[in-house]
Amino acid sequence: MTKETQDFQHRLKANAEAVETVLARLLSPEPEGGEIVRPAHLLGAMRHGVLNGGKRLRPFLVIESAALFPGADREAALRVGAALECIHCYSLVHDDLPAMDDDDLRRGQPTVHIAFDEATAILAGDSLLTFAFDIIAAPETVLPDRTKTELVLALARAAGIGGMAGGQALDLAAESTTPDESGIVTLQAMKTGALIRFGCEAGAILAGAATAERVMLRRFGEVIGLAFQLADDLLDLTADAETMGKATGKDASRGKGTLVALHGQGWAEHRLDALVREAEAILAPFGDKAGTLVETARFIANRRS
Ligand code: IPE
Ligand code: IPE
Ligand code: MG
Ligand code: MG
Ligand code: MG
Repeated sequence: MTKETQDFQHRLKANAEAVETVLARLLSPEPEGGEIVRPAHLLGAMRHGVLNGGKRLRPFLVIESAALFPGADREAALRVGAALECIHCYSLVHDDLPAMDDDDLRRGQPTVHIAFDEATAILAGDSLLTFAFDIIAAPETVLPDRTKTELVLALARAAGIGGMAGGQALDLAAESTTPDESGIVTLQAMKTGALIRFGCEAGAILAGAATAERVMLRRFGEVIGLAFQLADDLLDLTADAETMGKATGKDASRGKGTLVALHGQGWAEHRLDALVREAEAILAPFGDKAGTLVETARFIANRRS
């Protein structure tokens, strides 16, 4: 392992711990002002869906993209990262439901609908989605109101009908009508890419960065988002459930339209290399400051879990 990779792993782990501390505190039993009670069963399901490991890659992107800008507040970035992770975890809880991918294992543990029940898993997802916007809007997230509005708008667009949720709908439809290459790229940019892109763009929004910098980070996010789902689809084919902490071999068995299914493993590996190079080139104007984000692009392409 190179020194850069070692430093990167260390940073990813330290950030994951910091995000988990914030999430554990936010998901506490005491109601906040304006709430009445937090039903213990539902809170238990939310905690099961969130505080169960996970790479915490999306919050890492928020924190590291914000760190490119000297003025950005790390505490605020952590909270925005925690909000994004809540939406990601909600998407996984719902993705695993019997009506969607019907999976029993996530992050090495029973999925929320198995550990609890289906209705509770649906409500845990609903509550996590709402909670994300609560976290950003709350006074403890110390940012100008205008910045918060921009974050809320960008996150809503990334998570909703034209982003993750819309992409999940296209993904399910792709089980019966196989999309062509551009159809697959679009659905993946939506179901996975949109939240990853938001993670990168959020750093620029948080820091009040110039439009040109925001556009670069957005573009970087799009490219690593594509790489991320391509790697996920490759791992579904090549890795085992124990390493992944989730079932594998499912895309082929369900006839999912993926680029790996369309072009094969060798093509996908080359494409991943090309996407990493593209991601590096986009960040070149930031110079050495972008070293961690460049390592993140490599990690996404080469990850084994
Ligand atoms: C899994 O995401 C779902 C996809 C978008 C492919 P991650 O691989 O980031 O899952 P965790 O958060 O580390 O469990
Ligand atoms: C899931 O894609 C994307 C979202 C949850 C939005 P997959 O269905 O491929 O993710 P895994 O493989 O179950 O993690
Ligand atoms: Mg799915
Ligand atoms: Mg799935
Ligand atoms: Mg998958």
